[in-house]
Amino acid sequence: MAEIGTDIGRAAAFLQAGQVVGIPTETVYGLAGNALDPDAVLSIFRVKNRPSFDPLIVHTDSLEKVFQFVSAIPAPARQLAQAFWPGPLTLLLPRRSVIPDLVTSGLPSVAVRVPHHPLTLSLLRALPFPLAAPSANPFGYISPTTAQHVADQLGGQIPYILDGGPAQVGLESTIVGFDEQGPTVYRLGGLALDQIEAIIGPVSVRTHSTSNPAAPGMLSSHYAPRKPLILLPPGQSPPPADRVGALVFREPFGGIPSDRQRILSPVGNLNEAAKNLFAHLRALDSLPVDVLYAEPLPNQGLGFAMNDRLRRASVRK
Ligand code: TXA
Ligand code: MG
Repeated sequence: MAEIGTDIGRAAAFLQAGQVVGIPTETVYGLAGNALDPDAVLSIFRVKNRPSFDPLIVHTDSLEKVFQFVSAIPAPARQLAQAFWPGPLTLLLPRRSVIPDLVTSGLPSVAVRVPHHPLTLSLLRALPFPLAAPSANPFGYISPTTAQHVADQLGGQIPYILDGGPAQVGLESTIVGFDEQGPTVYRLGGLALDQIEAIIGPVSVRTHSTSNPAAPGMLSSHYAPRKPLILLPPGQSPPPADRVGALVFREPFGGIPSDRQRILSPVGNLNEAAKNLFAHLRALDSLPVDVLYAEPLPNQGLGFAMNDRLRRASVRK
């Protein structure tokens, strides 16, 4: 069983030995390995049971270091990096050959980000290589926002989980790429669209894909609990029933026992709701209920990304 602790030196030693460890970030916990070592990267895919067509994000501690892994940074990418790193933003940039094919699934661009977490930034500064890290959950399941979530699902397969407390943002990073058509968002996430547009102007959003996705987070069924989840139309309540769970924004529904409901933010704060989203979904998933209902969030700020996750979680495999 994985050891859970706050010892950066210990985490670094496992990583230098080619092993994979759980790491905290502000978005969700990652399953990290040496991004420049194909064997370590293979271990990440194996532990996650992840298809190899799904490329990984490379994590480093500064924009300066990103130049070691990419051949160019377009002006809007640099502006975004300067505005939001460290933070919940991933940039797709043309890769250098030092990044193994396995990391990018053979794609010409590599996803990079500088995460905003003191322990993980110290770890990255201490290591002579960047870390490839997908979210530390089995492929297709809800992302982990605590060290315990990682231990519950992957603890038997990894030696160490660096415990940085509950993730402060709670949604995976927003992914932005740059091509002839200009900046494009490929995954809505912890950095809201309006914050991005405030820096670089209008961006296109292309977060849906049926086959051969640029990002499997684009797959229609993803981020899903084991129980069927029904995303309610706005303003609608679930039918009264006993064996159901409900995820609500501010107030519980009538007709469902209160211990089977989880409130995202009683005061109606979308950032607080995002921080609670995945932990609440996990808690609901482990209740003795047959089906989960979720109320949609207001379409503003992080509400768009949360509704995106709930929509994908509601698609049956
Ligand atoms: O917040 C996050 O981004 C977290 C933390 C741990 O940093 N990581 C994360 O990784 O969510 P993952 O692997 O669960 O999701 C990364 C997404 C995938 O959908 C993947 O397909 C996409 O990023 N991606 C990675 N590299 C890509 C590339 N070169 N081109 C297009 N999409 C890419
Ligand atoms: Mg993931």
